[in-house]
Amino acid sequence: MNNFKERFKNKVYAFLFWQTSFGEYLNKMYDLSLFFKYSFKLSKTNSKQNKVASLTKNYHIVEKGLALPHTRTEFGQQKIIKLIQDATLFIEEYGNESLILAIKNCLSEYYEFNKRSGVNLDTDYFRTIAIFISTEFSEEKIGGTKTITKEEIANATNFDFENFIKARSSIRDFDISELDVEKVEKAIDLARFTPSVCNRQSWKAHLFTKKKDVLKVLAFQNGHGGFKEVIQGVIVVTTDIRMFTKLETNQVFVDGGLFAMNVINALHFYGIGTCPLNTCMPFVDEKKLKRTAKIEESERVIMMIAIGSIKEVFKVAISKRRDLNQILINH
Ligand SMILES: Cc1cc2nc3c(=O)[nH]c(=O)nc-3n(C[C@H](O)[C@H](O)[C@H](O)COP(=O)(O)O)c2cc1C
Repeated sequence: MNNFKERFKNKVYAFLFWQTSFGEYLNKMYDLSLFFKYSFKLSKTNSKQNKVASLTKNYHIVEKGLALPHTRTEFGQQKIIKLIQDATLFIEEYGNESLILAIKNCLSEYYEFNKRSGVNLDTDYFRTIAIFISTEFSEEKIGGTKTITKEEIANATNFDFENFIKARSSIRDFDISELDVEKVEKAIDLARFTPSVCNRQSWKAHLFTKKKDVLKVLAFQNGHGGFKEVIQGVIVVTTDIRMFTKLETNQVFVDGGLFAMNVINALHFYGIGTCPLNTCMPFVDEKKLKRTAKIEESERVIMMIAIGSIKEVFKVAISKRRDLNQILINH
C-alpha cells in the first residue's frame, strides 16, 4: 500500500514538475518557507547561526566605516550600542569565541580612532565601549582594518592570470590515479577568501569521496550521463539560510555561486579537475538529497562539483564564448 502511495506521489510530482509550470511555484514556495523559517531579523535571532550572522553583519559595518576615505568621528552610535548588547548576551551563552574577539579588536580600533581625533571619551557611550573591550582581548589583530599597499597587490597579481583562467575547462574524463584529497581540502580552504554579503560566509562544501557516497549523491543529479563512473569525488556546495536576513532570498544563491566559482578555480590551481554540476531539481528531490547527504534542512543546495585527477591527455568541450560586445555594455 505504502509502495502504491509512494508511486502515485512520484507520478503526481513528475506531472507537476515536468509537464506544467506549477512546479516553479512550488519550488519558490519551498524557497520562501525555508527562508521564513531560518533567516534572522533584528528582532528574531533564534539559532546560534542567526546570532553569529547578525553580530558579523553589525560589527562589519564598523569595520567598513573605519576603512572609508573620510571616516566620521563617533559614527554609528546606536548600532554600536546594540552590537555591544548583543555581543554581551552572546558571551553569556557561548563565551568569548573568536568572533567576539574580532568585535573587540574592531571596537578598540574605533575607540582609538576617536581618541586620536580628539573626541571627548568621557561619556557614557565611550565608557560602555571601554568596558566591553577591556576583557579578554586578542593580541593578533583579527577585527578592524589592516593597511595594504598597491605594491603588495601588484606583486601578488604578477602572474599569467589570463592563461590560468583560460586553462580551466569542465572535465568529464578523469584519470584513475588516486584523488589527492589533501589538495581538495586546501582548495576549499583557499575558497574561504571569497567575498560574501556583510562577510557572513554562509557557505558549506560537503565533500564526498567514497565511491558509494559519490554515487548516492550523484543519483540526484541529471547532468553526468556518460562520465559517472570516472567521477572520483563530489562537492555539494550549499549556503545556510540562517546566515541571511530580510530581502536576501537571492543572496543565498549569489553568495553560494561566488563561493562555488572560487572552489572551482582553487581546485584548478591545485591541479584537480572539476566539472560543475547543476542542481536544478524539484524541491521534493532537494529535500531527499539533503536527507541522504546529511545536509541540514536550513541549507540550500547551490550546485555540485564533480572532481577527479587529471589525465595526461584528454578532450574537453570547446564551449565557445560569446563575443565581448554581446556581454560588455559600455554605458
Ligand atoms: C551551475 C552550472 C551547472 C552545470 N551543470 C552541468 C552539468 O550538470 N553537467 C555538465 O556536464 N556540465 C555542467 N556545467 C558545465 C557547463 O557546461 C560549462 O561550464 C560550460 O559549457 C562552459 O565550459 P567550461 O566550464 O569548460 O569553460 C555546469 C556549469 C555551471 C556553471
